[in-house]
Amino acid sequence: MSRIPEIRRSPLVSLFRTLTFGITIALFIRYALAKLDINKVLNIKQPDLNIYFDLPNRTIGDFPVRVYAIGDIHGDFNNALDILSAAGVVSPVYPFEWTAGNATLVQTGDVVDRGPDTRFLFKWFDELSTQAEQQGGRIVRLLGNHEFMNAKGDWRYVHYGDLVSYPEPYIENRKYDWGPEGEIGDLLITKYNVTFKDETSRSHFMHAGLSPEWGLKEDFVNSMGHEVLEMFMKAEELPDELKGFWGIKGPMWYRGYAQLPMEIACEVASNVTKALNVDRLVMGHTPQFSGIRSRCNGQIVLIDTGLSTAYSGERAVLRILQNERTNIVEAVYRDRVVKL
Ligand SMILES: *[C@@H]1O[C@H](CO)[C@@H](O)[C@H](O)[C@H]1NC(C)=O
Ligand SMILES: *[C@@H]1O[C@H](CO)[C@@H](O)[C@H](O)[C@H]1NC(C)=O
Ligand SMILES: *[C@@H]1O[C@H](CO)[C@@H](O)[C@H](O)[C@H]1NC(C)=O
Ligand SMILES: *[C@@H]1O[C@H](CO)[C@@H](O)[C@H](O)[C@H]1NC(C)=O
Repeated sequence: MSRIPEIRRSPLVSLFRTLTFGITIALFIRYALAKLDINKVLNIKQPDLNIYFDLPNRTIGDFPVRVYAIGDIHGDFNNALDILSAAGVVSPVYPFEWTAGNATLVQTGDVVDRGPDTRFLFKWFDELSTQAEQQGGRIVRLLGNHEFMNAKGDWRYVHYGDLVSYPEPYIENRKYDWGPEGEIGDLLITKYNVTFKDETSRSHFMHAGLSPEWGLKEDFVNSMGHEVLEMFMKAEELPDELKGFWGIKGPMWYRGYAQLPMEIACEVASNVTKALNVDRLVMGHTPQFSGIRSRCNGQIVLIDTGLSTAYSGERAVLRILQNERTNIVEAVYRDRVVKL
């Protein structure tokens, strides 16, 4: 039998073919990338600057006092970035820096759970906080019931992506991170609080809201919160005098301001705002999926809009603008600003 003679290619032809093939692929990829809007791919949107000019002849610079507040973020960096950048608080592009000058941003807790970006969010807020301080601004970071739950070892709502953001063994490493020696644990102990009263804008901020039964002294609630937090981290039983803090009417769980019938809610809010000497109580915790909700002539402001993908509610930031003449309280959305 005669063998079919092999067609022998010169190595030069081979090389030529390989090169042509490689170059074609490279050109194709380059073309495809040029056609792609990378901002769209990364889900980065440019801020709508017109959002600053929603009222005639008004610019953000007219207001020396600017206070922003964002509610429950629940592990969703993208959505938090989306609305914070639309409101002009941070840059929409890497490295997502503070752009709000000497403004104040309050985050009312529940950064963790239901989404994967927990670790990144805690670090990001810490970096933003340093940047804000360098510009005369600040970030006030408050604790939510979900931060306490994680410190306590109640991980029912932990997102898989959060867990596997740690090296193996995941559970041990995450536990350590949330303990007193861990990075997140240390941040919670040293940088986070329970309540915050801003004297300038006469606003009180807290995760779930301060029920009248629950002591009106902020220093008291803040120090008690830290005591509870550290006991949770050490897996210690709460003594009777601290149990109320973690109770259904405590500062981490109360839903009265969001759910009580109008008349009663307004009476409670009126009593508590008077006692605290503020104009409004701002809180997260009870989601309002269609947007920031104001009750009782603005004495109650509910800012948890379920902005994380887990809920897909509206993305919103509360903005308080103040100068010698006026004090404007409004909800900033990506496409509109609504006066409250
Ligand atoms: C806005 O500015 C224009 C031009 O300066 C002025 O004519 C107009 O009255 C102003 N409008 C308001 C609402 O102040
Ligand atoms: C922020 O800066 C502006 C302009 O420099 C100043 O008028 C204002 O008092 C500052 N506000 C705060 C809260 O420091
Ligand atoms: C928490 O607030 C109290 C005032 O009530 C303050 O003394 C304390 O320094 C604050 N702690 C942190 C970690 O910000
Ligand atoms: C509000 O305060 C008044 C006067 O102290 C008190 O009589 C009333 O019971 C309070 N209302 C509520 C709902 O706490």
